[in-house]
Amino acid sequence: MQLIREPQAFRRVCDEARASSPALRVGLVPTMGALHAGHVALVTEALRHASFVAVSIFVNPTQFGPNEDLARYPRTLEADAEKCEQAGASVVFAPAPEAMYPPGDETRVRVGATAGPLCGAHRPNHFEGVATVVAKLFALTGPSVAVFGRKDYQQLRVITRMTTDLFLPVELVGLRTVREPDGLAMSSRNAYLSAEQRAAALAIPRGLSRAWAAFQRGERDAGALASLARAEVEKVATSIDYVDVADPESVHVLGAGERTGERALLALAIRLGGARLIDNVVLGEEPAPIAAIGAG
Ligand code: PAJ
Repeated sequence: MQLIREPQAFRRVCDEARASSPALRVGLVPTMGALHAGHVALVTEALRHASFVAVSIFVNPTQFGPNEDLARYPRTLEADAEKCEQAGASVVFAPAPEAMYPPGDETRVRVGATAGPLCGAHRPNHFEGVATVVAKLFALTGPSVAVFGRKDYQQLRVITRMTTDLFLPVELVGLRTVREPDGLAMSSRNAYLSAEQRAAALAIPRGLSRAWAAFQRGERDAGALASLARAEVEKVATSIDYVDVADPESVHVLGAGERTGERALLALAIRLGGARLIDNVVLGEEPAPIAAIGAG
């Protein structure tokens, strides 16, 4: 497996792979590193769709706000590269910020309504930064397929929208959220949690699962479903950014008293100490984050 830092060298390697065989498909898994089993599952999934898989590892400055965790985001390149190699990746692309945003760089992808609610309402410009770096990575890699996690559900919707709107020739695959055995969604930011906070964070999958069980019993009131999840997380959260029920395609938020369809996105973001944690479940489609609560 190769580790490449220069964008043009990375592009060359992807071009050469394509030139080596007309049937070869290139897959891309974009990440910010500090890789965990959720990221590894994306690589494994990419290998089902492509024989040459590139993993990008880049803590993208344009998607962080001024008071966010850009500086302290965990950077573990050596261990990450090892995991990529073991997972079967062909190349890791780990550029420097100046290589992705060289002097004079000024072009950004302007995102629309899909980026408005949920995380978009609390992280101004976040999805513009995500869309911009993903567009750059698509341009360098030329992937036939790119794999993203549904853990960042709104991100996947924003990128899907961008890919459609800009006619980008790449197939997108969304992979289920990989969870710890107790139900907590895996996240690089879980590293910020103390042991006590890690235990408290279980309120997130618990809350999602309580709402999941109510949905299963026939509850379709968006406000009631959101309240069930909120009741759990407010016991532990330092603060709550949002707990919302939304349309799973448009991510348009449903208000109290509005009824969901037979599928509904329940998504939340909370702060626990210094960590901002997000999670979601698509009710009517995905299993409960904690199976035992889902079973009632
Ligand atoms: P990062 O947070 O590193 O996540 C990289 C990819 O891994 C994303 O597609 C994310 O949804 C997926 N992922 C994270 N945790 C997961 C889990 N528990 N189960 C399944 N998939 C999971 O998301 C980003 O980086 C960045 O915004 C990026 C797309 C790389 C652009 O900078």
